[in-house]
Amino acid sequence: MDLLVKNAKIVIASETFESNIGVEDGKISSLSPSLSAQGAKEIDARGMIVVPGGIDAHTHMELPVLTTSSADDFYSGTVAAACGGITTIIDFVDSKPGQTMLDALGDYRGRADGKVVTDYGLHMMFKGQNLPEIDQIPNIVKRGVPSFKVYTAYKKRGLMLEDPDISRVMKKVAAAAGLVAVHAESETIIESLIQQNLAAGNTGAVYHARSRPAEAEAEAIARVTRLAKEAGAALYIVHLSSRAGKREVEEARTRGTRVFAETCPHYLVLTDKALERQDGRHFVMSPALKKPEDCEALWEGLREGGVIETVGSDHCPFTSAEKDWGKDDFTKIPNGVPGTEVIIPILYSEGVRKGRITVFDMVRVTSEAPARRFGLTPSKGSIALGADADFVIIDPTKQVRLTADVLHTKIDYSIYDGLTTQGYPVLTVRRGEVIMEDGEFVGKKGRGRFIPRKTVDGQN
Ligand code: URP
Ligand code: ZN
Repeated sequence: MDLLVKNAKIVIASETFESNIGVEDGKISSLSPSLSAQGAKEIDARGMIVVPGGIDAHTHMELPVLTTSSADDFYSGTVAAACGGITTIIDFVDSKPGQTMLDALGDYRGRADGKVVTDYGLHMMFKGQNLPEIDQIPNIVKRGVPSFKVYTAYKKRGLMLEDPDISRVMKKVAAAAGLVAVHAESETIIESLIQQNLAAGNTGAVYHARSRPAEAEAEAIARVTRLAKEAGAALYIVHLSSRAGKREVEEARTRGTRVFAETCPHYLVLTDKALERQDGRHFVMSPALKKPEDCEALWEGLREGGVIETVGSDHCPFTSAEKDWGKDDFTKIPNGVPGTEVIIPILYSEGVRKGRITVFDMVRVTSEAPARRFGLTPSKGSIALGADADFVIIDPTKQVRLTADVLHTKIDYSIYDGLTTQGYPVLTVRRGEVIMEDGEFVGKKGRGRFIPRKTVDGQN
């Protein structure tokens, strides 16, 4: 045995139990209350809870946006993740102009291997430039990348696909037993509101939110879920932000569409009021922040299970200097905020402690469901014999104010500055290696691994 965690109150999605945890060769080798160290490194978890390592299925490390890249590379971004109890991320491969998807995949592997400290998987972004190589989809799936993200918006950035092309991609991905992820916002609604606002001289950050109302999300979800049903595809709606959008997912499910949704920590605890602040541009991401009743609907969705299955971060931070590009024109603000480090602290403190969700819900949406949905089981997503030894010790009494100096993302401000959380990860173990202790990264650069994922086809 290499590591023994004693007196653990273990919480998995289906139950809680007390046990010691034995770890050998990166796997959980024994679960027994009477297990002794036999010379192995020992950690006492008395008074703590131990949950499976978080799986953040939505990150953008070193993503090129406008003339810059998101602030965290695969090292600093996964250090931040590890410090928040995440042990696996799934990032999105973005092909450069003229680059094939296979070359882009190789490029991302080259950038991430050697830097990552958590394990990682990849999704493929499928943009307009990738249409001529649509037949490559099964080859990408075979390489352990069985999920493809399409966009219904961001035409100017070359990300948006027209509906007939979305439908073609859905059919190809479905034939390869993959999953189609969708950034669902209506380009038509958004563009017309942006033009109206700019023409009226409404250039402040708050007009980003006023140009991206809940209806823009709902319209796109209504459309893509119908396209998916016709194509026989399974859908994953990324970053669901509104009650209206949630309702469309629910209705599509009652029509028999295989559709699942993810929300993000910022949509749960922040509202569009933040964009009225002097530093409102720091809160610009897409979809935009909504109203308190939307936050409430998203918590409800996490509680109910099913419709909102997971919480991913959409981690994509930019420095304040980069956010300042849009001081006088909200359309020039790089879109994106940090988040991978705060998923578990926010769900525990704002969710579990405040009675909005149970601790079982938290484990389900941060670990069990993303592992199942993204083909990572049985090695990830639970604390079980033979599974990877990926787990987090949470101190339920520890209070942490989420300021920039506490968080590890490489930006100079925190959008959660006003939030003090109670219940915080104090130790993270990834495949048996302690990588975070008392808020500091203690692992080694590059020790994370690429995890090729199985196809799951939305069946489970
Ligand atoms: O605002 C968001 N969601 N940023 C993430 C990166 C992108 O542009 O999709
Ligand atoms: Zn994203």
